[in-house]
Amino acid sequence: MDLNDQTTGAGPAGWWRHAVTYQIYVRSFADANGDGIGDLPGVTARLEHVRDLGVDAIWLNPFYVSPQNDHGYDVADYRDIDPLFGTLADADAMVERAHELDLRVIVDLVPNHTSSEHVWFQEALAAGPGSPERDRYLFRDSPDGPPNNWQSVFGGPAWTQVEDGQWYLHLFDSTQPDLNWRNPEVGDMFVDVLRFWLDRGVDGFRVDVAHGLFKEETLRDQVVPEGIESATGASAGESMVERTEVDEPMWDQPEVHEVYRRWHEVLAKYGGDRMMVAEAWTQSPESMARYIRPDEFSQAFNFSWLLAPWSAEAFAEVITGTFEAVDQVDASPTWVLSNHDVDRHPSRYGGGATGLARARAATLAMLALPGSAYLYQGEELGLEQVEVEPEFRQDPLWFRTGNPGRDGCRVPMPWSGSQPPFGFGPGTGQPWIPQPAEWSELTVESETADPASTLAFYRAALATRRTFAETAGEEVEMVAAGTDVLSFRRGPITVLLNCSTEAVALPAGEVLMASGPVDTALPPDTAVWLR
Ligand code: BGC
Repeated sequence: MDLNDQTTGAGPAGWWRHAVTYQIYVRSFADANGDGIGDLPGVTARLEHVRDLGVDAIWLNPFYVSPQNDHGYDVADYRDIDPLFGTLADADAMVERAHELDLRVIVDLVPNHTSSEHVWFQEALAAGPGSPERDRYLFRDSPDGPPNNWQSVFGGPAWTQVEDGQWYLHLFDSTQPDLNWRNPEVGDMFVDVLRFWLDRGVDGFRVDVAHGLFKEETLRDQVVPEGIESATGASAGESMVERTEVDEPMWDQPEVHEVYRRWHEVLAKYGGDRMMVAEAWTQSPESMARYIRPDEFSQAFNFSWLLAPWSAEAFAEVITGTFEAVDQVDASPTWVLSNHDVDRHPSRYGGGATGLARARAATLAMLALPGSAYLYQGEELGLEQVEVEPEFRQDPLWFRTGNPGRDGCRVPMPWSGSQPPFGFGPGTGQPWIPQPAEWSELTVESETADPASTLAFYRAALATRRTFAETAGEEVEMVAAGTDVLSFRRGPITVLLNCSTEAVALPAGEVLMASGPVDTALPPDTAVWLR
């Protein structure tokens, strides 16, 4: 295949290869109608903030019709908007406004499972065992308990029994039944869904649980090493982070790639400028690379950067490992530090002033790397993970396991003013999760007025990145720079990230950007771009 062929969407010319994409968690971004929950008109009204930040694209978490048991990752109708978030006309207006502001739009696609309220699942329940309706899901007879030992990612058995005695598989919540991708009707339905959104003008798809879809056909037991309670943990917060090499008959099966080759062709028919990015938690760089072969995904999230501890050695290993993987298939790398499933990175790095300094430094190092970066709403303000009171928690992980879950990184954005709801919605109505009072210092309004703010830092870093992102080349050369100091060179830019506890001398060069104060030395927890 000619990698420069734009019509395939796979060539080095694809816009996403250098893009910075800003993730919008719709329910927590901006609330236009005052019901305490963010919505699409809210997104549209606040897109100028995203444009001013200096990114290229937005990715919106699911806004489709859904009972919201997993905040929209339980889709009841893939072709309509949940009334909580607005209407199809609101979605069209959002896409139009984004395009006016030169922002591409990526929407979330959830193909591994539907909501139990999806018409297919309701038909399957009504039609009974052995019916074609049940064959769209993974129903099994098993008189002596669940058909196998698989555990849900959200805790507890991955099987639920229905009234007539059959069991159905759900790798996530019991309200998220897994589809049977060996049934051709399922594949055809998703091609229609892709076309529906492509016809409405979206530029791409973030594909949820892309490594799911197919399970080993026998649905055999998983071999669980002694001492490990559950090994189904791939995706969703903590369980993702603790994942180790295990037997996984429920993930990453070879048949899944046929699906993505078909989708790639669907996208290519739209002029080659549409993309798709995989959320695929695979076990090795080699298995990740299979998803981003030239005729499959445009790119895949690289969670190893996000999972790395605060250590120069760990960051260096991630960089080298990432290039080993993407170079196998001529794909572009991606980098991400935060999203709606993990603790926010200032908190992961220890919280407080140190956590924030490290977060800014890791972000600066990330933004110098070739490839594309994904930012999560609120990180440009330096927001930390919030400890949400149990009465407000809504994550199914919390209900199924008692683990506090992911709500703490989903607290609504603070825009302006000195008290909650900080301009999140009109008036004084409170959002679905209370915002901490201290966020008065972290609103977009107050940070815009402060040249030393994290927001000012993100804007400057993104503007500077634009001056070299497409011209500094795709090669990275690691440079020795002392104990616990990460350094690499990319074209004319040299990057240093000081993870140690001592200041280190700065090599010669013009300081293009720094994540904190620097003089002739680079203090701990600080990164710099030199030219
Ligand atoms: C999403 C999660 C979601 C899960 C089930 C993911 O990996 O990012 O937020 O709970 O898929 O759809």
